[in-house]
Amino acid sequence: MDNQADIVSRIDRLRRERGALILAHSYEPGEVQDVADVVGDSLELSRIAAQNDSAKLVIFCGVHFMAETAAILRPDRPVYMPDPNAGCPMANMITPRELAEERNRHPGAVVVAYVNTTAEIKAVSDICCTSANAAQVVKSIPADRPIIFIPDRNLGDWVAGETGRKNLFPWRGFCPTHNRIMERDVREARAAHPGAPVVAHPECRPEVRAIADRIASTSGMVRFAKESPAREFVIATEIGMCYRLAKECPGKRFWPVTELADCPNMKLTTLEKILWELEDLAHPVRLDPAVAAAARKPLEKMVAILGQ
Ligand code: 13P
Ligand code: SF4
Repeated sequence: MDNQADIVSRIDRLRRERGALILAHSYEPGEVQDVADVVGDSLELSRIAAQNDSAKLVIFCGVHFMAETAAILRPDRPVYMPDPNAGCPMANMITPRELAEERNRHPGAVVVAYVNTTAEIKAVSDICCTSANAAQVVKSIPADRPIIFIPDRNLGDWVAGETGRKNLFPWRGFCPTHNRIMERDVREARAAHPGAPVVAHPECRPEVRAIADRIASTSGMVRFAKESPAREFVIATEIGMCYRLAKECPGKRFWPVTELADCPNMKLTTLEKILWELEDLAHPVRLDPAVAAAARKPLEKMVAILGQ
């Protein structure tokens, strides 16, 4: 097996030759975050993938819906995944048929789709959101219109509370990784790290969110940790986030609320697979052009709202 420094130097040589932009989500393993040009949340990475004009191709270290979103927003530039098996179980928890049935149950409803959805689902949704802008997106919808919020029941429930929307109907999906975080874990972590604020992702269970000090998306967590006078934090989200936080906030300490919150799909990407992808370009994101064009509309609506 090659040593890590050798793999990194081969990645560096090939990325220059190919004009590749390497993007990594904050839940990726530390060594993958270190080799990336940019580490960010799902929204930041998609925007960078769409706006960057100099790269010839994108290597997306994250899960399938994220790479797909990058390809949808910028169809003229190929996006590759180091491991195409890296999916998001939550994204597969609603099918177009189930969504059509849900629309029938709520006539006139606006469908707000979390970006953690497949391109086929986005193509039949009205507007997208991420955990960083879900409340802003929901507030942009007239108060008298019902909202079907898919696929995450926890994010949907949190957004309904934040916005005071009574006519918001969350779908029943959930993130298996965030679901592993229990109220007991928060209480034990508080006892082990007295005074450290507990920051939870909105994908956490309601009882976990209820006892957290702050609810934030992954980018919101970085902002909060930088601005807070606290020196230690308990982090209730996927464990990779603590690596990014520690790197961006030198001198501060970040404790995962539980080591069990480990997304196995995010951890499929390795340095070796990034190198092999740069060598072979074997796993491009492929999308039906008609589906991609339809899926672009709700994504562009979200981006337009953010610009307001
Ligand atoms: P962010 O939108 O905060 O990057 O989170 C994506 C995700 O998959 C959360 O589990
Ligand atoms: Fe999907 Fe959860 Fe993994 Fe995020 S952490 S990619 S929502 S399974």
